[in-house]
Amino acid sequence: MLNLSQIKTSSYINGEWKKSSKTFSVVNPLNDEIIASISDANIADAIQAIEGAKSALKGWSNFSVNQRAKILKRWFELICQNNEKLAQILTLEQGKPIQEARGEINYGASYIEWFAEEGKRIYGDVIAPPSLDKRIIVIKQPVGVVTAITPWNFPNAMIARKAAAALAAGCTFVVRPASLTPLSALALAELAEQAGIPAGVFNVVVSSNSRGVGEVLTTHADVDKFTFTGSTEVGKSLIKQCASGVKKVSMELGGNAPFIIFEDADIDAAVQGAITSKFRNAGQTCVCTNRILVQESVLEEFTTKFVEAVNVLKIGDGMNESTDIGPMISNSAVNFVNELVQQSIKQGATALSGAKLTQGSTFYPATVLAGVTNDMPIAVNEIFGPVAPILSFKTEEEAIALANDTEYGLAAYFYSRDIGRVWRVSEGLDFGMVGINEGIISNAAAPFGGMKQSGNGREGSKYGLDDYLDIKYLCMGGM
Ligand code: SIN
Repeated sequence: MLNLSQIKTSSYINGEWKKSSKTFSVVNPLNDEIIASISDANIADAIQAIEGAKSALKGWSNFSVNQRAKILKRWFELICQNNEKLAQILTLEQGKPIQEARGEINYGASYIEWFAEEGKRIYGDVIAPPSLDKRIIVIKQPVGVVTAITPWNFPNAMIARKAAAALAAGCTFVVRPASLTPLSALALAELAEQAGIPAGVFNVVVSSNSRGVGEVLTTHADVDKFTFTGSTEVGKSLIKQCASGVKKVSMELGGNAPFIIFEDADIDAAVQGAITSKFRNAGQTCVCTNRILVQESVLEEFTTKFVEAVNVLKIGDGMNESTDIGPMISNSAVNFVNELVQQSIKQGATALSGAKLTQGSTFYPATVLAGVTNDMPIAVNEIFGPVAPILSFKTEEEAIALANDTEYGLAAYFYSRDIGRVWRVSEGLDFGMVGINEGIISNAAAPFGGMKQSGNGREGSKYGLDDYLDIKYLCMGGM
């Protein structure tokens, strides 16, 4: 069983655990009980972390790719060995079911393993020159000091995914995790230290001062690149801050994923896909299904089977092995979701399941809304909760138009067994990731990222290193 007195509760800066007299509390979203009291880092601490990362840059970028790979693999192995402890910390501070938390720890670790290997495959180019007295060569070099702000919904994996690529490329890294879930980040730092990651290469700054520390991370002169996962609204203001120093940025922002079921689909498979895609992490992921679009001829069959499957989902304490849906992160998150539901019901949607708020509770029931139209609040907004709105359509063209009718472009899903349609719809959807007859698409080998207002850059895959590398062109003359 997890011993809370042994977990880290202060920032990890330049290889040291930095205590502070000012503290803030981390609470369990299940019952609001205090789990830990955290040393609250200030602006000077954030600056010290960036300066530490700057000093460590030369040494780390001069390690051979094999040396970096060895250290990253040790980090990966330690994370895997400590899976249960890390998962329990995660469930306690974030609320997700323990089975999902174990999955997240493996998922985060898989990026570290992936980039430990991928770092060995950083290639340049030799390009045919326009005249014989020159040679054109392209090399790739680490961008330098990377800063990051990561969200509460994946307190482990969103840090691992960014840090793994940055470190493999030879960059150094400073992250400010969400103040709601800093314990997972500090647990990762403890294992990074044990793995032998040198002081200053991986820093975690935990602070309740999101605005002040955010400003330092986006504007400090020693920062070369900033990466963020979170809402589109916050992402836009962070991009503005980065603009003053023309920092390289990558952004993984909000989503509004359509999940389309065509009449030729395997309906039972579509029901299962929609359940996993919608209710994972209580609906609190950027790639969760946001709108279910069903072709009219299979609307009744899909809806009946889907509601049956929703009604057997178990809601409860994430620590319970049989829980499917844990508490949401906070009361305000619950109230936001309920408001979207109630407004949409007023505008004509019908609740087939759930839709009832228990005052003061962080649980929201798995909810299905039928008769939804694309202009209702539940369809326009990123829900970030366990609510499944069902819309209907007549034709393939209408489905694509409805799906694309959003400012977001992160993930989309569709179910069809018609090979021509599979190509047409895949190409017609304006989203960075498309699940075809599949509701779970995230993995380390795949490029995760969005189009439109869902952000830029890709995390994971062979493309994931690009965001942490500068291209340098060498022109050799005097041949
Ligand atoms: C996210 O919600 O930001 C990430 C989800 C994932 O990696 O699958």
